[in-house]
Amino acid sequence: MKKAILLVSFGTSVEEARQRQILPLEKAVRRAYEPKAVVCSAYTSPTIRGILARRGISIPSPEEALTSLAQSGVTHLLVQPTHLIPGQEYEGLRALCSAWAGRFRQLTLGLPLISSPEDMTALAKILSRAFPTVPGQAVLFAGHGTAHFANAAYPAMETAFRILGREDVFIAAIEGWPTLEDAARRLQKHECKAVLLVPLMLVAGDHAQNDIAGEDPESWKSVLTARGFQTKCWLSGLGEMPEIHRIYLSHIENADRDAAKGGIS
Ligand code: CO
Repeated sequence: MKKAILLVSFGTSVEEARQRQILPLEKAVRRAYEPKAVVCSAYTSPTIRGILARRGISIPSPEEALTSLAQSGVTHLLVQPTHLIPGQEYEGLRALCSAWAGRFRQLTLGLPLISSPEDMTALAKILSRAFPTVPGQAVLFAGHGTAHFANAAYPAMETAFRILGREDVFIAAIEGWPTLEDAARRLQKHECKAVLLVPLMLVAGDHAQNDIAGEDPESWKSVLTARGFQTKCWLSGLGEMPEIHRIYLSHIENADRDAAKGGIS
C-alpha cells in the first residue's frame, strides 16, 4: 500500500502570494501527513503553469500529477482541492477523478473550504476574530464569484456573519453576485465612514492587487472612494492563516474517513 495526497490549486502568477498563501497550506498538509503519505501539488490553470515554467518553476497539471502518481505505484490517493467553493473547477476535478478511479485501488476527493453550514460558521468565526468590529468601519469581503450555482456560498457566508452578530460585514463577488454595486448601496445605508476591503480568496494575487486594490477607476477601492468612503485594503489571502489550514486538514481527514468506510468513488 502506498498513499498520496494531491493538493490541487488554481495557482497564481504573483510569486509572493504563492509563497505566502499556497505553499504554507501545502506545508501544513506535509507536516500532518508525511511520511505516512506522499504529499504533492498540482495547479489547474494552464496560463499560470506556463508563466511559472518560464520562471523555472515546474508544477504539474492535475492530470500530469495523476499520471506520475499512478506510475510511481501509489495505490491510495486522496485529491484535496484548495478551492473555496464547489463550483466549476471542483466539478472538473471530480470528473477527472472519476475518469482516473480505475487506476488506483482507492481514489478519494476532498471537499472545498466552504462546503457545509459548519464550514461557513467556522470560517465566519475565524474571520470575525481576524477582522473585529471597528466603530465607523464596515468590512467588505471580496469573493471571486462564479456563474455556477455554488456562488450562493458568498451571500450565505454573509448570513453566517449575521448569525454571529456581525452587522458590519458585507460580501460581494468580483465575477458573481452580489455585485460591488449591490454592496456599495448597502454600505451607504449602513452609514459607515470607512470600508476595509478583504479578499475572500485563498490567494491575494492578481484579483486582489488589481480588481480590489488597483488604481484603475473600476477597482473596488476606486469605486468606493468615489462614493465617499475611506477605503483600506487588506492584501493577504486566506492561505496565510493557520486556522484556515485546519479547515482544509479536517476536510482531508473527513474524506479519508469516508474512503475507509467504502469510499466516495
Ligand atoms: Co479569476
